[in-house]
Amino acid sequence: MNIRLIKSNWQSIECDALIVPMFEDEDIGKDFPAALDEKLNGLLSELKSTEEWKSKAGQITVLYRPNQLKTARLILLGAGKRESYDPPSIRNLIMQAVRKVKSYHLRRVSVYRRSQVEPSLAAQAAVEGVLLATCDTDDYKTQDKSKNFIEEILFATDQDLDTSKVEKAMKRGEILAQATNLARRLVNEPGNRVNPSRLAETAKEVAEKCGLEIEVLGEPEMEEKKMGAILTVARGSDEPGRFIILRHLASPASKAQPIVLVGKGVTFDSGGLSLKPAHQMEEMKSDKAGACAVLAAMQAIAHLQIKKNVVGLIPAVENLPSGRAQRPGDVIRSMSGKTIEVVNTDAEGRLILADALHYGRQLQPQYMIDIATLTGACVVALGHLRAGLFSNNEEICQKLLRASELSGEKFWRLPLDDEYRKEIESQIADIKNTGARWGGAISAAKFLQEFVGDVPWCHIDMAGVDLFKGNQESKGPTGFGVRTLVEMVAQ
Ligand code: BES
Ligand code: MN
Ligand code: ZN
Repeated sequence: MNIRLIKSNWQSIECDALIVPMFEDEDIGKDFPAALDEKLNGLLSELKSTEEWKSKAGQITVLYRPNQLKTARLILLGAGKRESYDPPSIRNLIMQAVRKVKSYHLRRVSVYRRSQVEPSLAAQAAVEGVLLATCDTDDYKTQDKSKNFIEEILFATDQDLDTSKVEKAMKRGEILAQATNLARRLVNEPGNRVNPSRLAETAKEVAEKCGLEIEVLGEPEMEEKKMGAILTVARGSDEPGRFIILRHLASPASKAQPIVLVGKGVTFDSGGLSLKPAHQMEEMKSDKAGACAVLAAMQAIAHLQIKKNVVGLIPAVENLPSGRAQRPGDVIRSMSGKTIEVVNTDAEGRLILADALHYGRQLQPQYMIDIATLTGACVVALGHLRAGLFSNNEEICQKLLRASELSGEKFWRLPLDDEYRKEIESQIADIKNTGARWGGAISAAKFLQEFVGDVPWCHIDMAGVDLFKGNQESKGPTGFGVRTLVEMVAQ
């Protein structure tokens, strides 16, 4: 993919599709819209007067072979109100526009700059938007594949911009979008294709390509490290578990404390003996979305050559019921030495994260972030727009929220009061893995908190935002978390 900034007036941009944002509240009798209207022989004012075209956010009108322009298609992209046109909306609107026209086999797509948004942020968001639109979810269709033909993306402007700064931002956009798409493709893989060992193989391929160190622990190595919680969940499946460790060691201070990222990698969650109902159980192939976000973020961190030490940890298991599976009521010993009463085998994510967080804590990190499709309760609380955010540290939490403003991914902080800890007190062991139904996202977070000690920590419950739902802007996996994690580490 060739991604470039070009200085050109809009009449002379040669491409297959020229995307031009148009604002709801602008006067088409003035400035650029008036000039465009004139070139189009009054078509714009005609469309406006018939109310066929209103520039509402997301409204897309395609004009073919506009006479006096050099583009094969002019795409009028309804951009809503000018004041709400910011990088997240640029990313989103451009993604929608390209999704609509990508089946036309476009090779060269241009985005014409019309906003006051800081140029490098706007260019980065535009590149991300185009690339996010090219990710397909139909890998296993044998026919009618909507192939992706886009070869070149131009960010076009007639202003004098700081070329090297904007081009750098566009490269950054490319890296972030490619990482997001890696996560989306991987989350989309079904359980029979991506099991824990395949996930580890994929992580190896990624690591090799982008220069990350990788270590994969098999079950014997996990036994040695006494990762009892991961191993017990893994026992329910014939597919052995894995513990994946990715390292990006690029801090100039060789002994700088690392940042640790932890992702839940349940390649399929049937619930185990506490079996889930059949309805939508197929969506539980996405229970590895946290792991995929961490792997993809590590790829982007390597490509961006961020000068920090970052360690990515992925406990990978398949949660199935079998003659070897853990039973409700079992007591297990986690790596930390804490004993856990397993009340519900479907609360498996917190079990594998317990060992991963304990492992991470021993690396004496600056801070630790885990990301997981952890609870249905979080989906009940926040729906499909925002992920739940929990933290034991004000500074780190604010840092993550600032990163989310750049990424456009939305979070909502939920509480961790000590009183909630009562929910997971066990009669028989140090702790139990589920509490009452109410406040289930919080008791899950309290469970995780037991294993992080004093390390500054954020927990992201992404159960509701791993997949696009209903009439959201796309279909399939979202790749949620990748860009926020990278922006946070980059800060
Ligand atoms: N992977 C699920 C959580 C989930 C639910 C993700 C819906 C995406 C959509 C998790 O392992 C789970 O099963 N959690 C249980 C916990 C309960 C047994 C305390 C849940 O939320 O029902
Ligand atoms: Mn579960
Ligand atoms: Zn799960």
